[in-house]
Amino acid sequence: MLEKIKAITAELENLNATTPEAVEQLRIKYLSKKGEISALMTDFRSVPAEMKRELGSKLNDLKNLATEKISALKDSLSAQADNSASDIDLTRTATPIPFGTRHPLSLVKNEMLSIFASMGFTIAEGPEIEDDWHVFSSLNFPADHPARDMQDTFFIARNPVDVLLRTHTSSVQTRVMEKTQPPIRIVCPGRVYRNEAISARAHCFFHQVEGLYIDKNVSFADLKQVLLQFARQMFGPETKIRLRPSYFPFTEPSAEMDISCDICGGKGCAFCKGTGWVEILGCGMVDPNVLRECGIDPEIYSGYAFGMGIERITNLKYKVKDLRLFSENDVRFLHEFDAAK
Ligand code: PHE
Repeated sequence: MLEKIKAITAELENLNATTPEAVEQLRIKYLSKKGEISALMTDFRSVPAEMKRELGSKLNDLKNLATEKISALKDSLSAQADNSASDIDLTRTATPIPFGTRHPLSLVKNEMLSIFASMGFTIAEGPEIEDDWHVFSSLNFPADHPARDMQDTFFIARNPVDVLLRTHTSSVQTRVMEKTQPPIRIVCPGRVYRNEAISARAHCFFHQVEGLYIDKNVSFADLKQVLLQFARQMFGPETKIRLRPSYFPFTEPSAEMDISCDICGGKGCAFCKGTGWVEILGCGMVDPNVLRECGIDPEIYSGYAFGMGIERITNLKYKVKDLRLFSENDVRFLHEFDAAK
């Protein structure tokens, strides 16, 4: 037994381990219930009485040595781990992550919405994938209107009902009218789709803000005032507006609105093609057929509607010459608007 104690002592003096798992293996090997030192303790019981004293104390020393060596190994390993954690310099500046910017269309949309909000309009939104009724039929489009042609509208399905990408956000106005009785005062921002060849001046999708006000005794004069206030807040207090007669199936009478060209101040330049005016929106009094179709009594209520393209307003404000820039997401283009708002 003495030989064995010597051998294990020698082993323990040279104990080494580089991972916590290896230390644990050593603990099991020497100190666990089935370990070598426990085995010696069992053998100890059958040692002759006269040797018990000497062997007993040697055995105890051995056990203490093993406990000490293994816990020393454990400590030095965890100290190493702490050291490697402190290699991280917590005071170092982080790698800067470049900030993006707001898209110019979002900037202009938000500005438009806040102008209308200041006049009491709330925001209404609806789906981009629509059915025929919300986009066309409810809005008094005749069955043979060209907008119902595949060349103008993206159809998703034509059977049993027409499902299509909305061509204007007037569909949202319909959705509000069919569920709500007047007074209704909403603006509807959103993306719309038209089947156009993509060029600098046209795209197959763009964005609109449309407005609708329905109540008792709403007149064309109310419409004109709201649009004048909008134009002045958007383009400056000197801005003038002009309404020209026009046609939309869902409004009667209908008009298109121009604002005085802010490049030449109305004198006439290349931008306004010498006229001093640039067109910005379509508008009119909601056709009684539309109110009736949406469950609102045209004998009691009247209303106006208007609609404009956010790209167009953005172009007028920031003179962006190519519509395609809005959807290419070139950061150099987007960063030009950093300081814009
Ligand atoms: N919906 C029309 C369009 O997309 C715009 C419009 C809205 C015109 C409301 C008149 C009244 O072109």
